[in-house]
Amino acid sequence: MPGVWTRKDLLGLEDLSKEEIELILATAESFKEVSTREIKKVPALRGKTVVNLFYEPSTRTRVSFEIAAKRLSADVINIASETSSVRKGETLIDTGRNIEALKVDIIVVRHNYSGAAVMLARHVRASVINAGDGWHEHPTQALLDVFTLKEKLGRIEGLNVSILGDIAHSRVARSNIWGLTKLGANVMVCAPKMLIPPAIEQMGVAVTDDIDEALRNADAVNVLRMQFERDEENAFPKQLEYFKNFGITKERLGKAKKDIIVMHPGPLNRGIEISSEIADGINSVILEQVTNGIAVRMAALFLVAQANENITHEDTD
Ligand code: CP
Repeated sequence: MPGVWTRKDLLGLEDLSKEEIELILATAESFKEVSTREIKKVPALRGKTVVNLFYEPSTRTRVSFEIAAKRLSADVINIASETSSVRKGETLIDTGRNIEALKVDIIVVRHNYSGAAVMLARHVRASVINAGDGWHEHPTQALLDVFTLKEKLGRIEGLNVSILGDIAHSRVARSNIWGLTKLGANVMVCAPKMLIPPAIEQMGVAVTDDIDEALRNADAVNVLRMQFERDEENAFPKQLEYFKNFGITKERLGKAKKDIIVMHPGPLNRGIEISSEIADGINSVILEQVTNGIAVRMAALFLVAQANENITHEDTD
């Protein structure tokens, strides 16, 4: 039975209960139908203002939050750090407080530093939604991944889900691990040894560097982008080497379950972590994930806005 949402912010899945995650998924399910209407709008957030504050590039998350807010009838403003006063040295907290002074209700923030969303949330009365912070968490991505899996397979409990790729630098991997394990999935992570963070087993996952093992019993594989821009020490496998040893190809998938679900959060590196044949093939749900992102973000915006109306805000005074 889904729980009750009382949080002003959505900062990650680590702190959420199973019931809170189920509530977001159930709320998303009820909002999904809105996007199929001729007039794709409900008045749930009429009169509310949402700011998308992005310090890192984004296509899917930013556009999806903007569409989600508009489908809920909120007003939306987009701020990119390159074209804002961040370029003149303004801190995240000062930027947040100034945005709040403009009577904004929800700040959706993407930042390159882990913990940025938590820090901002402590300093503003507006709700904060984490749209990806450093290597830490990307909660709405994991929620849309889980939503898509549940839609496809009817359940999460007992599923075998492998997460493949650059686990060490991946906020998507972390949020997926928290979400999937809380809902009862069996999660395995697979990567070259240097891309598996120490003590990852403590998050309740199995670990392998053998891709065939990761695919053998998997009901779904979530393929992560190789983040070569993070390879400051030039220690990652080279692109062709990575594809040869870890790339998802028709041949490799041929040894997995016939109806294995293939997911990817995007952006794709075709020919590096996944072949085009698989990315565009019948097992892929990659574009369905993108579509489901709207419903999940509508749910996140709606729940935090509703909860914030019931908070007295002594903590941020
Ligand atoms: N999956 C994801 O976060 O994509 P963007 O970087 O395009 O938002």
